[in-house]
Amino acid sequence: MADRYLSFTATAPGRFLTARLGLPQPAALTRWTAERPSLDGHLLHLTAGGPSGLDLAPVLARTGLPTATGTAGSTTGSDAGTTTGSDAGTTTGPTGRATGPTGPAAVVLDATGVRDVDALAEVHAALHPVVRSVAASGRVVVLGAPLDARDHHQAAVQQALEGFVRSLGKEIGRGRTVNLVRLTDASAAESTLRFLLSPRSAYVSGQVIGVGAAEGSDGPVDWDLPLAGRTALVTGAARGIGEAVAETLARYGAHVVVLDVPQAAQDARRVAARLGGSALTLDITAADAGERIAAELPDGLDVLIHNAGITRDRRLVNMPAERWSSVLDVNLASVLRTTDALLAKGALRTGGRIVATASIAGLAGNAGQTNYGASKAGVAGLVRSLAPRALAEHGVTVNAVAPGFIETRMTAAVPLFIREAGRRMNSLAQGGLPVDVAETTAWLAHPASGSVNGQVVRVCGQSLLGA
Ligand code: NAI
Repeated sequence: MADRYLSFTATAPGRFLTARLGLPQPAALTRWTAERPSLDGHLLHLTAGGPSGLDLAPVLARTGLPTATGTAGSTTGSDAGTTTGSDAGTTTGPTGRATGPTGPAAVVLDATGVRDVDALAEVHAALHPVVRSVAASGRVVVLGAPLDARDHHQAAVQQALEGFVRSLGKEIGRGRTVNLVRLTDASAAESTLRFLLSPRSAYVSGQVIGVGAAEGSDGPVDWDLPLAGRTALVTGAARGIGEAVAETLARYGAHVVVLDVPQAAQDARRVAARLGGSALTLDITAADAGERIAAELPDGLDVLIHNAGITRDRRLVNMPAERWSSVLDVNLASVLRTTDALLAKGALRTGGRIVATASIAGLAGNAGQTNYGASKAGVAGLVRSLAPRALAEHGVTVNAVAPGFIETRMTAAVPLFIREAGRRMNSLAQGGLPVDVAETTAWLAHPASGSVNGQVVRVCGQSLLGA
């Protein structure tokens, strides 16, 4: 459904009027297109807390953005060129091409070496002078270290980075996002950094993402068609977010199996035909759904996306047992059953990826959604418990996306005022699009994302719900 308020604020009179009235000022987000696949501008690589030992420069260079470097409070010199001044530097890219006197499109602050409160001041010193100049729809990515259980000073200031990032995300505006990545190995985080530093992460902000150590070599990665030769099954893919996920995975080269209920068979076939994939009509709550998927795909599959979901809202006092059980069955029990069956049969190949769909309603709770909230919180629990075992025993990662307010048929049916509140109550002051969830899912399904495991990543524009 069109967001007319967003269109209105994109006009000069709309901007003037809404600013005078003190109303939200959403910025049109820059999203991935084939013509504009990366952010427009340079990347500023800063350090706080002294050298961290991460070998970041080569990974950042491969994002394709010309890079300038600096330490807290000063931005001079560059390994890819030169930067003069931190607010409006002129950066020269690797090719010697001047990228203009504009602010950075992205800032990466390596704060992994911050171990005490004094060093934390360097986070302020590094970002205070540059944050204003970050381009619209730009990115701030802070890198943190895992919390050290033997050093409560390190743990305190590394945890402090979370509050810092979430607060900056709420105030930065202009479609800019702020996220924190905890890591120990830069190359293991390459797919994550490429995602966060690209237009594909337009609606992901205020997130803390843990990246583990490299899990051996995933082999050479084709960054343009990473899923070429792989098979991905998406449940509930006949429409909405699932259709966008199927489309995005197909764009990355996967053969996509579009699974949906028999009533949606026509739409499922239409989507599959458009994407060069295949359709599978099956109610995912069937007791033998896992076995039927495995029978349909005798060569196995690489990517399993649990997207099918339903709502049957009522306050608990008015909720009949049937509304409770139908939601729990589709959204949680069938996810558990099919995952178990496919792993037990070895149907997910080594290097496989499972991405389930939670919701911010499951993380924050929502009136009228005790059934839905319970089911989606259950998805997060499943992911956190299964992830280490699935990786150790099957070489398969397990993660979840937790969408916020996404413009779909489901949210179009929400009454006007509640819909407007849902759209605006986030740091980007607008709803997300199905493609935002799809791009996040595709990053988690990426062959190079083997060190991202057990994460629940919100795609919610940093919704105030459950923040
Ligand atoms: P939708 O209602 O547009 O699409 C859901 C699809 O799942 C439909 O094609 C439906 O036929 C299919 N499906 C339902 N039950 C099924 C079953 N038993 N077996 C197989 N397929 C089944 O929903 P939407 O908005 O695209 O949501 C997709 C997922 O994202 C759901 O899990 C939903 O809970 C979640 N989500 C959506 C949000 C939003 O703002 N739209 C927010 C948070 C989470």
